[in-house]
Amino acid sequence: MNGQRKTLNSAELRYNGHTIQFPVFEGSMGEKTMDIRALRKETGILTYDPGLINTGICTSDLTYVDGEKGVLLHRGYSIEDLAANCRFLEVAYLLIFGKLPNPVEQKSFSELMNLHSMIHEDMQHFFRNYPEKAHPMAVLSAMVVSLSSFYPELDRESATERIDNTVTRLLSKIRTIAAFSYKKSVGEPFVYPSYKLRYCANFLNMMFSSPVRDYTVDPVVERALNLFLVLHADHEQNCSTTVVRTVGSSGANLYASITAGICALWGPLHGGANQAVIEMLEEVLSQGMSVRDVIESAKRKESKIRLMGFGHRVYKTYDPRAKIAKEACKNLLEHLGHPDDPLLELAMALEEAALKDPYFQEKHLYPNVDYYTGIAYRAMGIPTNMFTLLFAMGRLPGWIAQWLENSRDGEQKLMRPRQVYTGEVANRVLPIGERA
Ligand code: CMC
Repeated sequence: MNGQRKTLNSAELRYNGHTIQFPVFEGSMGEKTMDIRALRKETGILTYDPGLINTGICTSDLTYVDGEKGVLLHRGYSIEDLAANCRFLEVAYLLIFGKLPNPVEQKSFSELMNLHSMIHEDMQHFFRNYPEKAHPMAVLSAMVVSLSSFYPELDRESATERIDNTVTRLLSKIRTIAAFSYKKSVGEPFVYPSYKLRYCANFLNMMFSSPVRDYTVDPVVERALNLFLVLHADHEQNCSTTVVRTVGSSGANLYASITAGICALWGPLHGGANQAVIEMLEEVLSQGMSVRDVIESAKRKESKIRLMGFGHRVYKTYDPRAKIAKEACKNLLEHLGHPDDPLLELAMALEEAALKDPYFQEKHLYPNVDYYTGIAYRAMGIPTNMFTLLFAMGRLPGWIAQWLENSRDGEQKLMRPRQVYTGEVANRVLPIGERA
């Protein structure tokens, strides 16, 4: 059990002539929750909740989202405060270790990060055997689970030092894996991490320097990348995080659990949306479609087209991360000398039209975190198929912190939901010759 919980009056359920009481409690921000753990035992009935829209699967001290007001807090700090004042690694430390690092902690965290930045030389063979067109998310997921065979697993009763090593190993190596998968896809030699560079600068250097081309990290680009990673650091029980907790609940190791999260993130309704947004914008430009055409086709159900980067399961107002990302994207493009980037202009025109349209207003559809980030990544020179990988790099501290929290929570159990069977009830096997 985590943090602060206040017990409230219980709720009553009347069913089949019986009245059953269920405890109600609230968390530290006042969300009221009915504890239905005794439901099936007491009544014999199940709840039916596709998409788990009404289901709290855990209590958590990590992240708070108010979807109506557009509020996002990590351990009580607002995303605006963290984005303005912290580097990505500080936010990662906050999520995983529960506090912002002081100078001593920050120094030792950075040193560990450097210590673990290389990947085992033998792992390089894996990259070499992937086809050039391999999607970086496929490579990333395979590489992260492979880490479990090269490095010791984190067991649940680990000593602090072992936890520090395992989580920093994962946080540090993900950059190297990401950059190597890019180098492989463009047929260039791998660039090793450097002790001289900080987290994001190191990643940019591994991506863009080469033996024949000097590369100097632009501090504005480095800052922007830090900010985008901060914006993705955690987002409570989203699809991939729930997957990480679910896989972890079976006792699977951290690497395996994170790998499952990476695969969940890949889908276009989740982290894959940042890639889908750019593909949508490029398609609109190349087809010469008008803003009106796009909005109208996104509204027509039969068209199966959605305005990618719009809408959110929890936010029914502007996603606070999208607000920050939009400003950062505009500033970055200005700095890089592309203030009139056609994709940015199109994205802003689509946003303006959508926000005025009754369809989007009634359904409370606003830009989400994925709407502007891809435009910024593209301006940094990052290829479209790596956008979701950057989301994964950003979300990693959240997945780690959620996995640790889940494994330390004495109320958690093996995740094993129920179903309502609706199939045939009494078939008999016929000899093969008599079957239809
Ligand atoms: N464009 C057009 N219509 C939409 C959109 C959209 N982007 N999003 C939702 N709708 C409509 C949807 O058709 C449905 O209409 P109706 O009530 O008439 O059936 C209504 O709005 C509710 O949508 P839903 O799919 O039932 O809502 P949800 O909470 O299950 O879905 C969502 C949330 C993010 C999957 C959805 O808004 C979507 O598909 N958005 C586009 C993909 C996207 O940008 N995903 C990134 C999410 S944020 C980052 C992350 O967490 O990964």
